[in-house]
Amino acid sequence: MSSDSPIGVFDSGVGGLSVLAALQAELPGERFIYFSDAAHAPYGERGDAFVIERTLGIARQLVEEHGIKALVVACNTATAAGIGLLRSVYPELPIVGVEPALKPAAAATRTGHVGVLATRGTLASGKFKALHDSLKSDSVRFSLVPCDGLAGAIERLDEAAIQSLAAQYVGALGRFGHQPDDIDTLVLGCTHYPFIAADLKRLAGAQVRLIETGQPVAQQTRRLLAAKGQLAGDDPTGSLQLLSSGDAASLDAAAARWLHAQAVGIALN
Ligand code: DGL
Repeated sequence: MSSDSPIGVFDSGVGGLSVLAALQAELPGERFIYFSDAAHAPYGERGDAFVIERTLGIARQLVEEHGIKALVVACNTATAAGIGLLRSVYPELPIVGVEPALKPAAAATRTGHVGVLATRGTLASGKFKALHDSLKSDSVRFSLVPCDGLAGAIERLDEAAIQSLAAQYVGALGRFGHQPDDIDTLVLGCTHYPFIAADLKRLAGAQVRLIETGQPVAQQTRRLLAAKGQLAGDDPTGSLQLLSSGDAASLDAAAARWLHAQAVGIALN
């Protein structure tokens, strides 16, 4: 394994492309291999044992067949269920996970009320509970809504389901605005959700701040590789290989659509 080796990135499906876009922007000289587990998506309602088995299997494939020098688990649900185990199986491999950005949201809110949308698996996890418990206080509270079916609808590009589920879950959070106790900050706790940021803004109101995690994950990946002396350099000579356990053509189309959309800037704030 050397600085020329690729960085592995995976998600249950297309959601991790929102993280990949940030990784490519931060690390333009790197080779990336993106694995979409589309044949088994979505993960959010499948339970820990299933998600852990998939996570370990995908990591093994990326390590053994592709010789990755680092792994980015671009999925909140897989991070919550499996990152501890993953790190114990691959102690030498830099591994970066994603988790809902509660800390930046707590720093950003002015009303003291933050909404969190994530999968059922993420919100039910011990890892999330520990994060939530460490940050909720007299001055900041978090309203949590598990979004069953939403990542799947985004995965299938099912526009009607996206619209009705997004309206249902944003509605369940409560009132948005800038009065005391209104929600003024919304955490996108699943990597699929940045792709419907415009819909969420329309539902929650243009003044609401949306927070996701692509950029901090990319910066952490840079730090870990730099510490190991394994950065490829910043010349824009990087590359991308797309792998899917499902339909490869759908992933190609999603990558063309989403990576371009991110490159031209989906407005999150
Ligand atoms: N994109 C994933 C996440 O961040 C998984 C969504 C799903 O497969 O349910 O949680």
